[in-house]
Amino acid sequence: MGKLRVALLSGGISSEREVSIRSGNQVYEALDKAKYEVTRYDPATDLERLVAEASCIDVAFVILHGPYGEDGTVQGFLDLLHIPYQGSGVLGSALGMDKWTSKRLYKEAGLPVPPFKVLMKGQSFDAEALAVKPGFPLVVKPRYGGSSIGTSVVRTPEQLQKALDCAFEYGPDVILEAYVKGTEITGGVIGNDDLELLPIVEIIPESNYTFFDYEAKYKQGATCEICPARISPVLSDRAQAYAAAAHQALCCSGYSRTDMIIHDETIYVLETNTIPGMTPVSLFPSAAKTAGISFSQLLDRLIGLALENRSYTSEGHKWRFSR
Ligand SMILES: Nc1ncnc2c1ncn2[C@@H]1O[C@H](COP(=O)(O)OP(=O)(O)O)[C@@H](O)[C@H]1O
Ligand SMILES: [Mg+2]
Repeated sequence: MGKLRVALLSGGISSEREVSIRSGNQVYEALDKAKYEVTRYDPATDLERLVAEASCIDVAFVILHGPYGEDGTVQGFLDLLHIPYQGSGVLGSALGMDKWTSKRLYKEAGLPVPPFKVLMKGQSFDAEALAVKPGFPLVVKPRYGGSSIGTSVVRTPEQLQKALDCAFEYGPDVILEAYVKGTEITGGVIGNDDLELLPIVEIIPESNYTFFDYEAKYKQGATCEICPARISPVLSDRAQAYAAAAHQALCCSGYSRTDMIIHDETIYVLETNTIPGMTPVSLFPSAAKTAGISFSQLLDRLIGLALENRSYTSEGHKWRFSR
């Protein structure tokens, strides 16, 4: 059997372009060239080439973060081209990108979420009311986005406008969420129908960071990540169960990583990443490593799940059910 022809997509046009390129480079290095013939595409410039070469592609590996990459748009594009890809389909990707809809689905699934409000651009707000619910300090974040871009912690009503202006740069709706003080953790799952629950990772940014912001996420040594997290077995089991429940509530497939914060005995679910960071030292690959899955094995596994997730039309065309 010849090599599997893999289209590696990274770059794109979102504010997380740089992160995507870095992850894409690392994934390119780690993909086993004895098994895969890898061609790279940057959606910012190469969509026409992707269309032209679609019939020569067996599977796509999408390392794009944020809007126009992780939000279902590229996934729908690949569906139209009959190219299978790792991770969630159109629906799961779109839901994972939308922090407001995610919260509504988490709540429906019985998962605790911090008290929150949504503010639309131009809508007036009453700082006094916000002080009562969700209450200060607040986390202000864009409805759609990632990597903590446009996100701030606001401690007083006077700081609110600046934080809102910053978040509104990334879209028309902003989430205002009660700040949860506690232990930040993240839980990864792998699988289509049967989910493997990865060990929980504890995230501890250096003390000069107020929260796990962009710099704390990507500057080397700025954050200490401990896997398995130093939490009780009861909390660890519950966090894993929440990561699986969040994955299912958002109709994800293949893999996902759900960010959470533990306060006292309550685990609050923040958000689910449908294309988690993918350098060998990123959170999801680190958790996989603790579970005995090397970075290359993880990539093999995700490609295997992408191919398994294919369905067939009655005419025998390959296509993927957009879950
Ligand atoms: N309600 C909250 N309480 C405390 N910290 C929060 C809260 N929401 C977000 N954060 C902090 O902001 C970071 C980014 O928020 P998150 O919701 O995970 O969005 P994203 O990672 O997509 O930017 C989190 O990792 C956490 O450090
Ligand atoms: Mg996050």
